[in-house]
Amino acid sequence: MNRRNFLAASAAAAGAANAAPKLAVKGGSPVRSTPLKADYWGTQFYDDKERQELIDVLETRRPFRWYGHGSQPPMKVLTFEKEFAARMGTKYALAVPSGTAALNVAVNALGLGPGDEVILPAWTWHSCFNAIVLAGALPVFAEIDESFNIDPHDIESKITPHTKALMAVHLQGNPADLDKIIPIARKHNLKLIEDCAQSVGASYKGRPLGSYGDISIYSLQLNKTITSGEGGAVVTNDPMLFERASRFHDLGGIRGPHEQWLGGAKGSWFIGSGFRMNEFTGGVLLAQTRKLDTIVEGVRSSARRVYEGIRDLKNLHMRRLPDPAGELGTGIFLGFDSKERRDRYMAAMKAENVPASPPGGSVILPTQPHIEKKVTVHPAWPSFTSERGRSIQYGAGCCPRTIDVLNRFAGVLLDPKFTKRETDDIIAAIRKVYPQIVG
Ligand SMILES: Cc1ncc(COP(=O)(O)O)c(C=O)c1O
Repeated sequence: MNRRNFLAASAAAAGAANAAPKLAVKGGSPVRSTPLKADYWGTQFYDDKERQELIDVLETRRPFRWYGHGSQPPMKVLTFEKEFAARMGTKYALAVPSGTAALNVAVNALGLGPGDEVILPAWTWHSCFNAIVLAGALPVFAEIDESFNIDPHDIESKITPHTKALMAVHLQGNPADLDKIIPIARKHNLKLIEDCAQSVGASYKGRPLGSYGDISIYSLQLNKTITSGEGGAVVTNDPMLFERASRFHDLGGIRGPHEQWLGGAKGSWFIGSGFRMNEFTGGVLLAQTRKLDTIVEGVRSSARRVYEGIRDLKNLHMRRLPDPAGELGTGIFLGFDSKERRDRYMAAMKAENVPASPPGGSVILPTQPHIEKKVTVHPAWPSFTSERGRSIQYGAGCCPRTIDVLNRFAGVLLDPKFTKRETDDIIAAIRKVYPQIVG
């Protein structure tokens, strides 16, 4: 081989070495032979601890939280409340049957009602909007940003003299930008409700999510960090709000164990609802709460490994993380400059058997037909009979930026029990696919 041929052959070999690997979507071999799938988190950790709690309730025949057989008071729900409050860094916690119930309790504990406005993100779960409407108050949407959480810059323009509260919803494991949100709430004298349903166990600047709000809620339903299938909790540091929450969740009265926790009740009866938790659920949640840190560490360490493995990729556009150390690591979400490119990324990742999906677990509420049409259980519902309630318009027109963000991101969902092999596969698939889509 002469020198010229040798140089040409070397250049070709180097080119081949640098050439992008052939994507599975174009006939190359996939990173994995079977699809990677994250499982539900909490139920993977069920073991003898949950079993023993359930057996205790069966054997003592004390399924009701306030009284039952024998001389000992039932203690599962109350112990869960005490340990959950301690884990979340708050003075009080109230157990309820769901995150939706928790939102109803929180809104009513704050005394929100007809004539009041509450700001919430345009992308969140139905329960947030419904709780506001069911209290007779008026929901007002703000846009989300690339953290998928409420955009602090959009909040102030939504505030009116009637605005009384603000919902910071920490979606898909990622804390909302509390450093910007809290000063806005303070400046305008708004109550802050933190919705931590999708981020149970996450923190912001070293403090658990839920400890910042005037009142905060969690969901403990199947898809959440810890679970009893259905379940929820409300936390607060404010004794008056805890008393009102406890009263609202139990018809308007307050029972001995909560009165003792408060060191005496200050309020009196009002018309409340019925959201008590039973002892079976309380027992399972007690066992799960004691495993919360293990589950969080599991999923966070998977996320850390993946972030580390893709950090050096050129033009990496990640979901914005207001506190990277505090997020759960629910998914590795990457952004694109168009929906078309995002969709090509998803198709290519699927072919590699490392599927990526659009942001999930929430809906773009203003575009839901029943919300756009303000369909309530009664035509004279107070939320929408005031002049402001009649004139407010929902629909796609009130959240174009939210729709745009959600169209441009996709993420691989993580699992607290993913092995190193599985996180390596995620890294390999992203490293193979992302640069070829982004260019
Ligand atoms: C942000 C948010 N808030 C509230 C809820 C309601 O929780 P639950 O399903 O326990 O009623 C959910 C449920 O997914 C949620 O995602």
